[in-house]
Amino acid sequence: MVKVLSVVGARPNFVKLAGVEPWFSKMFDHVVVHTGQHYDYELSRVFFEHLDIREPDYYLGVGSGSHGYQIGEIVKRLEEVLFKERPDLVVVYGDTNSTLAGALAAVKAGFRVAHVEAGLRSFDMSMPEEVNRRVTDHVSYLLFAPTENAVRNLKRENVLGKIYLTGDVHVDVLNRWMPIVDKRSRILDLLDIDPGEYIVVTVHRAENTDNPVNLGNIVKALLNIPYRIVFPVHPRTRNALGRMGLLRKLEESENIVLTKPLGYIDFIKMVKHSWKVITDSGGVQREAYLLGIPCIVLRDRTEWVELVEAGWVKLVGTDPDKIVKSVEEFEPKESKPGLLGDGRAGERIASIIKSEIS
Ligand code: UD1
Ligand code: UDP
Repeated sequence: MVKVLSVVGARPNFVKLAGVEPWFSKMFDHVVVHTGQHYDYELSRVFFEHLDIREPDYYLGVGSGSHGYQIGEIVKRLEEVLFKERPDLVVVYGDTNSTLAGALAAVKAGFRVAHVEAGLRSFDMSMPEEVNRRVTDHVSYLLFAPTENAVRNLKRENVLGKIYLTGDVHVDVLNRWMPIVDKRSRILDLLDIDPGEYIVVTVHRAENTDNPVNLGNIVKALLNIPYRIVFPVHPRTRNALGRMGLLRKLEESENIVLTKPLGYIDFIKMVKHSWKVITDSGGVQREAYLLGIPCIVLRDRTEWVELVEAGWVKLVGTDPDKIVKSVEEFEPKESKPGLLGDGRAGERIASIIKSEIS
């Protein structure tokens, strides 16, 4: 039986793993390695519970640190597992440090790499995710691109691996779990909010949390939005807000409900019933679009350009006036084209691996 080894470590990696795991576990000898990049219950274990993913076989326990520390430690610790398991293929997901380190460890140790979510580009090398995804794509043997645009990016860069258009695994995951979120989650009652009457906010990208001007502007905007806001706060953001003395301002606002990061089922229910979404996340942009919720993005660039072109995602950067104005004014186009695939990306990826690797 073909042995496939998946490397995951951070929240978005787990969601993507959930899109392929049912197929991988059926069709391959599937080994799952968790790097330990994310370790809090709310950023890690809750996803295995909510998305019904089986326990990882290895936990590398790398934890937080600088990019150099995190990537170096993952490469070192993963190499040992690779030599022990000798997989036919190593699969990495998305664009986190665990993605890049997984790909580097594998290719350096002589194992073939497949990249789920290949070909995305923001064309901004100051974003750590852009470096991670570009390098990963260039060392991968199989490149699973979610969109036509991603395929074009890969062809333009003359990557050496084989490119396949598969659709986005986030669609598979959302389609599977969306029908049951209303039954399974009581999050709206717990937070005492009414459907359609609140905005969901997420902020965690380095360009916003580590830049005091950007974070200050985002907080200023949130304090000036005259609607209810539910803001599940990533620990990186909570730390930065605390350091800059901004956390208390948000806590004191009557409109704003701050929560811990939510598990997938609760989070999707929150987005599904929201009026609008404000985010800097890659995954949340797509989920808002798929659920038909207008999405305002706190960045100047996005790797999901098709959603902007379709008129469903609005890039506003961090100018407070622009953010507040777009909350009032941004309405997506009436038509919502199916830009992210048919919800069968996971199955497709598994059958390509089956025919490519023997
Ligand atoms: C990482 C990804 C980012 C992704 C995000 C999703 C990289 C470079 N970035 O960013 O692309 O969008 O995950 O959530 O891989 N922390 C905790 N508990 C945890 C994990 C982290 O408190 O379980 C805190 C630590 O203070 C840590 C900080 O968050 O230093 C940042 O964590 P890190 O894993 O370096 O990056 P993220 O910001 O989470
Ligand atoms: N997410 C969640 N709870 C939250 C915030 C996000 O379950 O409080 C989910 C969301 O569905 C998204 C996934 O986490 O698909 C990963 O997104 P994140 O914003 O962490 O990372 P990015 O996609 O920006 O890399």
